[in-house]
Amino acid sequence: MRLAGKTAIITGAGSGQGKASALLFAEQGAKVVIAEWNEEAGKQVEKEIIDAGNEAMFFKTDISNEENVQELVSVVQDKYGRIDILFNNAGIGFSSRSKYTMASILETPLDDWNSIMGINLNGTFLMSKYVIPVMIEQGKGSVINNSSLNGIIGVTGADAYTASKGGVVALTRVMAADYGKHNIRVNCICPGAINTPMISEVLDIPEIAKNYETGPLGRVGEPEEIAGAALFLASDEASYVTGVILPVDGGWSTV
Ligand SMILES: NC(=O)c1ccc[n+]([C@@H]2O[C@H](COP(=O)([O-])OP(=O)(O)OC[C@H]3O[C@@H](n4cnc5c(N)ncnc54)[C@H](O)[C@@H]3O)[C@@H](O)[C@H]2O)c1
Repeated sequence: MRLAGKTAIITGAGSGQGKASALLFAEQGAKVVIAEWNEEAGKQVEKEIIDAGNEAMFFKTDISNEENVQELVSVVQDKYGRIDILFNNAGIGFSSRSKYTMASILETPLDDWNSIMGINLNGTFLMSKYVIPVMIEQGKGSVINNSSLNGIIGVTGADAYTASKGGVVALTRVMAADYGKHNIRVNCICPGAINTPMISEVLDIPEIAKNYETGPLGRVGEPEEIAGAALFLASDEASYVTGVILPVDGGWSTV
């Protein structure tokens, strides 16, 4: 029970890495708030957690909408009275490429650029902006941002996504510097290719899937492997860890 007594908000917890983290955090004693814009998926995860005898609450949230984020934070405070952990995990990427162009900057329309930034970067900003005051009041908190390998190395072909994730890395460092004095730790995970709906179509193309199997560990990662890293950063075991940009990528960024 590494998160006993703690309340955790996980954005995008209806699928993939967020869902795996929600299940693990709840199993480890946290009250888990599923902040997700896909109602069906969010409710399903809420049900799974409650059916397993643990505590969860779904709140339909679009992290790019300021009023919606404010409402979420106020509802969580009313219900649980505190917010110990914020996992800024929600994001859009390759699975949204029919809606938003994933390409180099020359082929990226400004509207698509703004939409991708609006969720991946602004969403992280907005959630943090409204949760951190609660953590300051408590004198403690842990924020985990989910960036990407794209945020730390040059991965071509999804430039708005890449820039948004680079922004998340930079924001992590400055948030860690700003709020350490309030005992708030801010860390960042940079996943490599993870087997979730976000990249499942890409993984179905053998020539592309092969590229993902070239790192030192020679395979793509599973969402539970990101959840494990997030659990460590969320827990008091990481009490002296802040400002860390942690690749969880099977060693991909080393080669
Ligand atoms: N899968 C990968 O290979 C990979 C690699 C690097 C980084 N990431 C990042 O990991 C995070 C989790 O992605 P995943 O792989 O689990 O993908 P996923 O598509 O399975 O899950 C993302 C979840 O976020 C939700 N979401 C998206 N926009 C939202 C919004 N505006 N408000 C609320 N919820 C929203 C979606 O509905 C979905 O449930 C993302 O930030 C992604 O960019 C993924």
